[in-house]
Amino acid sequence: MRLGSLDLDNRYILAPMLNVTTAPYRRFCRKFYNVGLVSVPMLYTKRIEKSPISIEKDLIKIEEERPISVQLIGSDPEALKTTIDYLESYKYDVLDLNAGCPSKRAIKAKEGGYLMKDFKNLRQLIQTAVKHSTKPISLKIRTGYDKPFDIEEMARLINDSGINFLIIHARMVKSNFSEGTLDLETVKKLKERLAIPLVGNGDIVSAKSAKYFIDYTQVDALMIGRESMGNPQIFNQLHEYFTQGNEITSKRNIDLIKEYIKIYEEKVDEFLRGISHPLGNDEIKFIELKRNAIWLMRDIENSKIIRHQLNKAKSIQHIKTILAHV
Ligand SMILES: Cc1cc2nc3c(=O)[nH]c(=O)nc-3n(C[C@H](O)[C@H](O)[C@H](O)COP(=O)(O)O)c2cc1C
Repeated sequence: MRLGSLDLDNRYILAPMLNVTTAPYRRFCRKFYNVGLVSVPMLYTKRIEKSPISIEKDLIKIEEERPISVQLIGSDPEALKTTIDYLESYKYDVLDLNAGCPSKRAIKAKEGGYLMKDFKNLRQLIQTAVKHSTKPISLKIRTGYDKPFDIEEMARLINDSGINFLIIHARMVKSNFSEGTLDLETVKKLKERLAIPLVGNGDIVSAKSAKYFIDYTQVDALMIGRESMGNPQIFNQLHEYFTQGNEITSKRNIDLIKEYIKIYEEKVDEFLRGISHPLGNDEIKFIELKRNAIWLMRDIENSKIIRHQLNKAKSIQHIKTILAHV
């Protein structure tokens, strides 16, 4: 499918999630389905401006993951420009600007979600990115800060901006990641006024919720975040439903989850092969295996004790011993 100037295999996109959608995680999701686009979660432009080398670890081997986008967060156009220049030496496909992060840190720094109430700076940041980046630009927004934005104003801002496509998480910044219900009405009205493709995001946890989102809003593509944590088959499930009409619900049991964890380990090893990660290869492998094993165990009957044990694990061997006994 086409998303602006991008040619993607399909319309399913893995959402950027800080400390979740790492390189092994993205590779793991793509093992089950060739997810159309994945993203490196937010990188801080101020930090990169001060120390470009600090983000090298976040961009290791990204050329192997194309199509991939790199997301930036910041409020200073100069820092954004410097970062874009620095990123030019990397091979990636989309530069994504974060205008939705609700964290206290982001709001205090007047970046991320704060931009939903500062259209002046939002416009300036977009202009800077469009002017300096050789890559297509996307923007990830919310439906407003503490009240829905003016749809006509947002549509004008986007249509005049020169960006490639827009991503919208259908909640306001003040609703964080999961509070309240989705505002699909704003998404729908915005879509009607946009001259560029719109990607819909928020609470897509099944084929049914994906269909409802698309039918209601007519968005061009879907971005999935939290459901992928523990259910890497979600992209496949959406594809099956929309192409074959089949609603597959994977029968999750402990043996399947152990198999998934094995695949996760393979993906971590694949990523670490031939590199010396600045945080230590063993440490990365331990962190990745531990948290993903815990996420993958969700919804498994009687897994509370296992998750508790995994949470206390202090080494890779310890994780393996716990899993060998279940
Ligand atoms: C742990 C976590 C980290 C996140 N980090 C980012 C991020 O770096 N950049 C971003 O644009 N959104 C981030 N998000 C928001 C997700 O991209 C997504 O918009 C949100 O989770 C809603 O989609 P979902 O309902 O499918 O999870 C994060 C969400 C979570 C739960």
